Amino acid sequence: MEQNNIFQGADRLEHCYFSPVRVVSERVFELQEQGREIINFGEGEPDFDTPKGIVDATIRALNEKYTHYANNRGLIELRREISKLAEEMMGMYYSPEEEIIVTSAGAETINDALMAFLNPGDEAIIFTPAFFNYENLIYMAGAKVINIRLKSENGFQIDPEELRRRITPRTKMLIINNPCNPTGVVYKEEVLAEVAKICVEHNLIVFSDEIYSKIVYNGRKFRSMASFPGMRERTIIGNGFSKLYSMTGWRVGFLLFDKRMMNSLLLVHHYCVTCTPTFIQKGLADAMNLPEVVAEGQKMVETYARRRDIVCRYLDQVPEFTYAQPEGAFYVFVNVSGTGIDGDEFSRRLREERNVASIPGSGLGGEDYKDFIRLSFVTDEENVKKGMQQIVELAAEVVAENKKKVAC
Ligand SMILES: Cc1ncc(COP(=O)(O)O)c(C=O)c1O
Repeated sequence: MEQNNIFQGADRLEHCYFSPVRVVSERVFELQEQGREIINFGEGEPDFDTPKGIVDATIRALNEKYTHYANNRGLIELRREISKLAEEMMGMYYSPEEEIIVTSAGAETINDALMAFLNPGDEAIIFTPAFFNYENLIYMAGAKVINIRLKSENGFQIDPEELRRRITPRTKMLIINNPCNPTGVVYKEEVLAEVAKICVEHNLIVFSDEIYSKIVYNGRKFRSMASFPGMRERTIIGNGFSKLYSMTGWRVGFLLFDKRMMNSLLLVHHYCVTCTPTFIQKGLADAMNLPEVVAEGQKMVETYARRRDIVCRYLDQVPEFTYAQPEGAFYVFVNVSGTGIDGDEFSRRLREERNVASIPGSGLGGEDYKDFIRLSFVTDEENVKKGMQQIVELAAEVVAENKKKVAC
């Protein structure tokens, strides 16, 4: 009798893949081990220290022995502070008792929402280019990915008519990320209003990834999906502290939702992580809304805004590049194909020849985005300038090489 291959993963993993950011990061580690100094525009990892108020409060919590299990939903004092933050960000009230779960960062919010509500065979719509967790977790839920490709000529805005055409009787969920990783786009309010209408009409659940909601520029106003008519009850919001307070290693985030969704979301969260580390929750509860901590978060956003301006100034020196000016998050998605090579090759040469890491667009949305690279401006201004100078010089070099080839 033929034996099972015990090393073969479960069928639900068949289409899953590792994140392209991880692939680049591993190569960056190798290069660094060889003694190369790499400017990292690859990872979406804020470079600031976590606000001191949060660090101090967490150390205090450890000393006060907040080292045991917390309530599965999270410490009530933290849920109360999150409720205040939500009200400040969105002007909407979420009940700390019934409508908030503290999670292990933004990544868990996506997992919980998809595992709690997608059945095998359901269709879930994503807009690409996109954060890769959505696609992989849809696969793990046994559901089907419906990919709507956003177009650069549209400024990567959603086309509501196309959305309408792609909905079928099997469509259960729509996933939206605003502001968007990797395009840096903040969706226009009138576009979101149309999307909301369509979701209500077709009775869809929306998972709204709002992890960059506080990082917006040019006075752009962020508007939550949950705030449109008929949307609060069908929108699960994922948010967290990784980007807001530069806390990627702490692994803490939160879900906001209608209380009727609590049971399903809590089942997934509970059997996945039990609870987020209690001392971290206590530290955040004590410090996250202190004026000095809020001010530090605001300063981070102002710093990103300055870096964004620098990045755009350099990109504008290269007539062969096209890009949509980022209005939120800390990414810019650049079409480099005008130089004569695609994003895969540009990203490879940039890293290997000029010590600057970036993410090829193909990793964030497949073949349709192979002309693009994603740059994250999460390093200090000096490094941003140095890295951008390398990009400008590489573009000029590639253009010159291609001219020579044509002339031959
Ligand atoms: C769009 C988006 N959602 C969620 C996350 C997950 O963040 P976290 O580190 O909080 O898990 C990221 C991280 O880069 C992201 O870009």
